[in-house]
Amino acid sequence: MKKGVIVQASSRSNGNTSLIVSFVNEELGFDIIDLNKKTIGHFDYEFNNQNDDFNSLFKHIVSNYEIIIFATPIYWYTMSGILKVFLDRISDFLKIEKEFGRLLRGKKMSVISCGSDHEIFDGFTMPFVQSANYLGMDYLGHVHTWLENDEIPNKVNLEIKKFVAKQLNKSTKNT
Ligand SMILES: Cc1cc2nc3c(=O)[nH]c(=O)nc-3n(C[C@H](O)[C@H](O)[C@H](O)COP(=O)(O)O)c2cc1C
Repeated sequence: MKKGVIVQASSRSNGNTSLIVSFVNEELGFDIIDLNKKTIGHFDYEFNNQNDDFNSLFKHIVSNYEIIIFATPIYWYTMSGILKVFLDRISDFLKIEKEFGRLLRGKKMSVISCGSDHEIFDGFTMPFVQSANYLGMDYLGHVHTWLENDEIPNKVNLEIKKFVAKQLNKSTKNT
């Protein structure tokens, strides 16, 4: 089982979130999955979209990684639509092929956000904390980031270092 994966959920593959992800991953060395390159339909109560990219992607993630880091831009004060659709589709594995959904139990979830505001509003992390709780996952925390003149400011750099340490410490302690 590999240590972790960063699920990048921006509407552009080489934008600001990607820059942050690359920086974070210099130390983590996790695999990166770019959801922008996948075809993932909205949740469907009839499960008519089982042949899009989600089914095999989810099985790959739960079979291979202990830590799942969601990296999302802030779009309208919340996670990107791409990430919300990904989370919605986890419901597929709570209804059918439940054995794969159960594999999330005991795994770790973390979140990186990238916005233009330096401030993150109350409530941003709530869906992640509650979803991790519902899915039996251990929530490892969140770091909010932004760029200034296309560069990572010192303050963000320091927060990222703390975030990275948390991923590595907790994962070695608990696995
Ligand atoms: C549709 C849209 C909505 C946005 N809403 C917010 C927002 O609510 N708060 C914020 O700080 N930045 C907001 N932004 C700015 C982005 O979060 C910011 O530019 C981010 O770095 C973009 O990352 P990306 O290049 O990976 O998309 C928004 C951008 C877009 C395109």
